[in-house]
Amino acid sequence: MAKVKTAYFCQNCGHEAPKWLGRCPSCNEWNTFVEEVISKGKKEVTAFAKSSKKTAKPTAIHTIEEIPVQRIQMKDKELNRVLGGGLVPGSLTLFGGEPGIGKSTLMLQMAMQETDQEILYVSGEESMQQIKMRAGRIGELNESCYLLTETQLESIFKHAEQLSPDLVVIDSIQTIHSENIESSPGSISQIRECTAQLLRFAKQTETPVFLIGHITKEGSLAGPKVLEHMVDSVLQFEGDRNHVYRLLRSIKNRFGSTNELGIYEMLGDGLRQVENPSEILISNNKDQLSGSAIAATLEGLRPMLIEVQALVSTAAYGTPQRSATGFDLRRLNMLLAVMEKRCGFKLGAKDVFLNIAGGIKVDDPAIDLAVVAAILSSNADIAINKNICLSAEVGLSGEVRPINRVDQRVSEAEKLGFDKIIISKENKGIKQADFKIEVVECSRIEEVLRELFG
Ligand code: TYD
Ligand code: MG
Repeated sequence: MAKVKTAYFCQNCGHEAPKWLGRCPSCNEWNTFVEEVISKGKKEVTAFAKSSKKTAKPTAIHTIEEIPVQRIQMKDKELNRVLGGGLVPGSLTLFGGEPGIGKSTLMLQMAMQETDQEILYVSGEESMQQIKMRAGRIGELNESCYLLTETQLESIFKHAEQLSPDLVVIDSIQTIHSENIESSPGSISQIRECTAQLLRFAKQTETPVFLIGHITKEGSLAGPKVLEHMVDSVLQFEGDRNHVYRLLRSIKNRFGSTNELGIYEMLGDGLRQVENPSEILISNNKDQLSGSAIAATLEGLRPMLIEVQALVSTAAYGTPQRSATGFDLRRLNMLLAVMEKRCGFKLGAKDVFLNIAGGIKVDDPAIDLAVVAAILSSNADIAINKNICLSAEVGLSGEVRPINRVDQRVSEAEKLGFDKIIISKENKGIKQADFKIEVVECSRIEEVLRELFG
């Protein structure tokens, strides 16, 4: 095989150098040089690579024939939903998440469920015995699932050619390497080259490919965002490892919307699909405890009722502590300042702890009002009626601000048997007549407090 020619490129400005440099002489950035291939050695040509070098030509848009996308319906409904209603043949899906979150488990479970498809599960991380043991724990073994422990891309292709599977899973892209590049597996140039080849494989053989990728400490997939541009869809598996719930989010999807959300529960025997998230996220404790409020939030397009818990106590030492789990600490500090300045509550010398039940992280601003209510409930030690939920953003002057898709939230609260929901007065288009649940509209925090505590 001819030697591959590589060079080092600055990822910031594109400066080229024959060897690695710590600092780019052109843009003065540090640590930006990455090895890249300039000319490839003669590759062994695999069948898929040999086939067709189609040339495209410009076509008037109205003359293009519409071919409906044939989607493969997955047995896993949550996965199906997040993929936009099924898996598209020839699509390359990047499946990311922190180590230990359950990526391999979900993919293996999917491989065991799809009994009518031939699946090739390639693992560079675990031995066949380990995988089989885990698969046995998850459920019935799927006879049409083939395991391959291999990290060399070209040889993976060779096996894929012989087997011609209906679906390929690669666990994980960071362990795979191509013989065209000298740098070690997991380096940017390896990851990029392997992904590019897998993309070509997926397109030319019409085989859907799932690519597992680890998220680095900085929170990005496989270092820089190189992969996200190349693949068709990016799914992300999130959750707190110490809790059982996992969220499957779509970050990019060329074949559907990215608003969908899948929810799973990690059990001893694999991941269970959660169809009704609200019911489990709200504790069934019917005792009236202070410091707890229910928020009607929306994750993507999915309404979810979430319990917010707060504890306010007198600071034992000089500086009061503020801590938040599942909620942005800066936002908590802002809400505390609003309560202090606009509503006259003396919280400056108090410790405030906030927790979102179930280990879920919430970005939806509609949770603000429930956070405020939970804090004030704990501060005054008065419980909030368990049949009331809240859904509104809180502004800097203490005003209760409107949120999007409020009708969906109200319906969800009604479905779960709540008696009352508090929303912003500015939310137009909500008619009390359409709902059985009492809809209370407020424009200031003080009004909300009167409604909650009398
Ligand atoms: P894993 O799928 O290996 O994570 P990843 O591939 O994202 O690194 O899952 C790791 C954790 O999941 C492991 O710590 C144990 C837990 N787990 C369960 O709780 N139940 C199960 O049935 C399985 C297979 C794993
Ligand atoms: Mg794994």
